Amino acid sequence: MNGFVIAVDGPAASGKGTIAVRLGALWGYPVLDTGLLYRAVGVGLQRAGGDLDSEAAAAAVARSLDLSHLEDPALRTRAAGEAASRVAVHDDVRRALLDFQRAFAAREPGAVLDGRDIGTVIAPAAPAKLYVTATPEVRADRRWKQLTGQGEAVTYDDILADIRRRDERDGGRESAPMRPADDAVLLDTTEMTIEAATDAARRIVEAARARWERSQG
Ligand code: C5P
Repeated sequence: MNGFVIAVDGPAASGKGTIAVRLGALWGYPVLDTGLLYRAVGVGLQRAGGDLDSEAAAAAVARSLDLSHLEDPALRTRAAGEAASRVAVHDDVRRALLDFQRAFAAREPGAVLDGRDIGTVIAPAAPAKLYVTATPEVRADRRWKQLTGQGEAVTYDDILADIRRRDERDGGRESAPMRPADDAVLLDTTEMTIEAATDAARRIVEAARARWERSQG
């Protein structure tokens, strides 16, 4: 029997990260924020003085990454998000990070992964798939509050422009573009508090869980 994989995809600041962590706590499953992997590649490459547009250089960083050390606060900055989305367009980078993510998804008795391509590429057979969205304006407001809370000096308008640019790059790239899997349940959190969004996500996953248990006989 395979474990119960919960795939949580969606754009930046949609609420998917918090939802993933809370679902993980509810079911007692480990949680992988896959955005951190791309952030670590982008930051690592920049620290080495490399070019974010170079697929070979970015893939070399991805292959040598210590994936057990993703706590660096530098990965949470605005610049790291931008660098992540630039290295994430490279097919060889995505390939280098694939095995680690698939092995995480195979953990028993289950796992939660959040990202952009979990339901479509990393774990297409996941029994529970959520695609979490919200309007760009609401997402920009959330991200702006988070970043200014971390001490970054940024304006709301800059963050909104970042979000729009990132949506376009992540959704428009050829390699594993951001999009909902055909069997994902859409959760629009625009008008929801994080508590309401988590509660809606929990109900979606409970329904998926009941179907999955029936299918396991
Ligand atoms: O989720 P987060 O904002 O940390 O992701 C940073 C960037 O990493 C995204 O904008 C996207 O380009 C990339 N990413 C991806 N696939 C994933 C997770 C993140 O391409 N599964």
